Amino acid sequence: MGALKNLGDAIARACGGPAADFPQSVIAALKEAVRAPAALPEAFGAASDQSYTRHLIYEDPAKRFSILSLVWEPSQITSVHGHNYWCAYAVLTGAITETCFTYDAVAEIAHPVSTTRHPSGFACFHGAGLDPVHQLSNADKAQAISLHVYGTDAVHAMSQVNHRVKSETILSQQT
Ligand SMILES: [Fe+2]
Repeated sequence: MGALKNLGDAIARACGGPAADFPQSVIAALKEAVRAPAALPEAFGAASDQSYTRHLIYEDPAKRFSILSLVWEPSQITSVHGHNYWCAYAVLTGAITETCFTYDAVAEIAHPVSTTRHPSGFACFHGAGLDPVHQLSNADKAQAISLHVYGTDAVHAMSQVNHRVKSETILSQQT
């Protein structure tokens, strides 16, 4: 748990630092955490053949953020969604494919603009809201595991993070 404890400590420090530095500080902390994939305890890597799975790893004592592992079998995919809270993620093992969308608030529909495969070591930060809207999946043939940090407590992080939206192209979706 060393790398994960360090991740929690680093994000807590970022919460107390300058707001302008926050996204890059979180990304740097995540990149450091995924440099040592063997650090993830087995329980946080359990998969399901029904959908990608979420495992709560850590809740900030002040409930400012929560850290989850997400385990993706091949072809498992999220809904098209924005976020109710800020979020950041890093690819620990395997690869995650991310499609980003622009959101038309008048027509209330998202339009896909790019799809990128992110290998292990990649990390990014998204603010709360519908910019961007995205969809994550495991488009590879091997399992993938990603670490996600959400700017809310554990209860909300486990069930109320995603703001689902309609999209121009709907693939097979899960929540
Ligand atoms: Fe997301």
